[in-house]
Amino acid sequence: YDNELTYLTHKQDDREEAFHQAYEEAVESVRADLGQSHPLKIDGEPVETDNTFTATSPGNLDLKIGEFAAGREQDVEAAVSAATTAASAWEDRNVESRVQIFQDAADTMRDRKFELAATLSLENGKNRTEAMADVDEAIDFLDFYSSELERADGYEFDTGEPTPGQHTTNLLRPYGVFGVISPFNFPMALFVGMSSGAMIAGNTVVAKPASTTPLTAHLFVDILHEAGLPEGVINLVTGGGSDVGQPIVEHEDVSGVAFTGSRDVGLRIQETFMDLGKRGPVIAELGGKNPVIVSDTADVDDAVEGVKNGAFSFSGQKCSATSRVYVHEDVIDEFTDKLVAETEDLTAGQATDRDTFVSPLIDDSAVEYYQEITEKARNDGTVHTGGNVRTNGDLADGRFVEPTVVTDIPHDHELAREEHFLPFVTVHPVSNLDEGIKKSNDSEYGLCAGLFSQDEAEIERWFDEVESGMTYVNRTQSATTGALVQAQPFGGWKFSGTTGKFAGGYWYLQQFMREQSRTRVE
Ligand code: SER
Repeated sequence: YDNELTYLTHKQDDREEAFHQAYEEAVESVRADLGQSHPLKIDGEPVETDNTFTATSPGNLDLKIGEFAAGREQDVEAAVSAATTAASAWEDRNVESRVQIFQDAADTMRDRKFELAATLSLENGKNRTEAMADVDEAIDFLDFYSSELERADGYEFDTGEPTPGQHTTNLLRPYGVFGVISPFNFPMALFVGMSSGAMIAGNTVVAKPASTTPLTAHLFVDILHEAGLPEGVINLVTGGGSDVGQPIVEHEDVSGVAFTGSRDVGLRIQETFMDLGKRGPVIAELGGKNPVIVSDTADVDDAVEGVKNGAFSFSGQKCSATSRVYVHEDVIDEFTDKLVAETEDLTAGQATDRDTFVSPLIDDSAVEYYQEITEKARNDGTVHTGGNVRTNGDLADGRFVEPTVVTDIPHDHELAREEHFLPFVTVHPVSNLDEGIKKSNDSEYGLCAGLFSQDEAEIERWFDEVESGMTYVNRTQSATTGALVQAQPFGGWKFSGTTGKFAGGYWYLQQFMREQSRTRVE
């Protein structure tokens, strides 16, 4: 593979002043353009609706991102109909021209990366480094999936003539129409990754982005159309879960769904498919309760750095966020003291400010949930730092809360078992690696896990025994988050995913297709 990962290229750029200047200029011009009305996009055409909803910036609730059409069941119907009509020509389109569209879209995104990242920062509160990584990841998905389609030669091969006179071709074919339902936390990467996966595999798409982040989805759909995507291949229906998401899932002409979000919603989608007798795939990336073990052989400073970044980047609003830390009893005091000190040093602020680390929470219900769980932590454990909603200065204009470190929570307490999607981490003592592994695995989730250890035998054993799709050892950049497309395919075991195949990995695209064996007598 010679794909050059856009993400890695940009990681080097962000040490340069020019990177910051370009981002800051983009913020100014994007900000000047915000607040517009955005209709649905069905069959390549704008579609107005009776009702609309407003998206605001989570760091500054006075900043209006835009006014978006609130789709209803009849809009889903129109979108599915357009996608169904477009399906057969799209499937028949040759590999080269299909690939070209997505590669052109990737090039456009590379050219417009600062504008896209600035939009994303304002829309969901992600700081500049992470916003850029989100855009880079989206570009990497486009490059990787389209190069995979090319490498597999359209997933069609000739099996030869095993039976005299009979000739067989074996191929993977798209299902038809896919629903794509994407979350707010990686509004570009996940919207692009799931929808392009479906389309590159030859399906057409009806897509519903999170209602808090519809603008980035609009930008991508426009980029695809400019790159020559035929009308009806992607149809964008913004709106709520019950008005739009559910009708997409239930529609008889929607053969499969790609979803990233909570375990409960993902499982409901699977149940709906079963109840309705739908046979296509539900490709779901679900939650995590990601454990990290800190051994007594670990470099404690490295472990603190990795856990801080894993737990608190984007305020823990990642399925991959570090949420439980099992620390050897000999080093737990040192670890906790240092983690608390480092956490208190983190800078909160507007996503677009240069030194901001801590992002706002996405909506009011996240803030209320934060208040609820920190209250439980005060009652049932020890809160070492954090636990408060910020009410000072500019931070009072957004949904800012303090990153929180908690100890003395029993292993089986709900705070140590449920996914929160918040800047909240619990630290637990363990007396050896075995206990750490046992407790790490005692979870319905199996998405990401981390280990800090200098002992090779411990590392090998942990890799073999930890029940987790993603495993990272001694990773200071982040103990559990930040997988790279193609280099670190991303997905989970147990209730963290439904198919066991990973985004940005070599078996992702095949999930969007079904096999057909074609034999003819010659
Ligand atoms: N891929 C992201 C990560 O690795 C999560 O969606 O953090």
